[in-house]
Amino acid sequence: YLDGLEDILTSLDDSFVLSIQINRPKARNALRTNLLKELADTLDKATHDDMVRAVVLTGGAKVFAAGADITEMADKTPVDVMNDPRSGYWMAIRNFPKPMIGAVNGFCLGGGNELAMHCDVLLAGTNAQFGQPEINLGIIPGAGGTQRLTQMIGKSKAMRMVLSGQFMSAHEAEKAGLVAEVCEPELTIDKAMALAKTIATKPPVAARLAKESVLKASDAMLAQGIAFERRSFATLFATQDKAEGVSAFMEKRKPTFKGQ
Ligand code: HXC
Repeated sequence: YLDGLEDILTSLDDSFVLSIQINRPKARNALRTNLLKELADTLDKATHDDMVRAVVLTGGAKVFAAGADITEMADKTPVDVMNDPRSGYWMAIRNFPKPMIGAVNGFCLGGGNELAMHCDVLLAGTNAQFGQPEINLGIIPGAGGTQRLTQMIGKSKAMRMVLSGQFMSAHEAEKAGLVAEVCEPELTIDKAMALAKTIATKPPVAARLAKESVLKASDAMLAQGIAFERRSFATLFATQDKAEGVSAFMEKRKPTFKGQ
């Protein structure tokens, strides 16, 4: 769909559905900056393309996305985070005005789960596992996760996930309202495509305004929380516990946190 993409695969069919697949299997689909940029650029083009009426976003069979690329985060300071072009790419994803269906199989973690929550409808395979494990790295979600998760599954379940880093199964995620439907993993993409194709037969302007209207139910409240979360996320990059969490992940050992 766009030339020269390295981290995502795209295809547009004649039913007005653009498929985007996250494709960095060696790094478990970690969302390095280039990947987010490619996603944002693709959605920017799709915004202005009448041949696109709906998008299906998917990952791999075992991993939707394992979150931000931890190796990229290792040396960042709070100022780096505040000036990070990633915020702009997230903004482009957040502002994409056409319906986007997420099809999740396997691990959907950290920034990966935050990306999934930017989709308008989520379908999941029975093998999907959702989590916000940032706390294990000495940080917190930084792309709206604390806000969207709380809104979608309620305070208690969101707190459990964000504070403990524990994962949630596909069935629990469906019960909690994070995903619309759970199916056999082989069917997730087909079902998402079918839904996207149905949506693509609807009047595009009405679909766009329907999406915008549904998001208005929460967006105004979210904005303040997202800004607060972002600042807290940046602040944590000054802590020794973040350095320890990231080093421990890269050295494949258990971290020891000291509250510094
Ligand atoms: C960079 C990663 C990665 C990540 C995995 N890899 N996740 N690299 N960033 N997020 C790399 C590993 O280092 C390893 O590299 C290779 O991918 C395979 O990983 P394994 O752990 O051996 O795979 P597996 O046993 O299959 O386990 C998969 C997994 C696990 C459960 C997804 O990799 C995992 O827990 N990953 C980290 C998840 C996480 O903490 N996410 C939150 C990130 S923070 P080598 O070189 O050894 O092959 C975040 C902040 C969001 O998202 C902020 C948004 C602004």
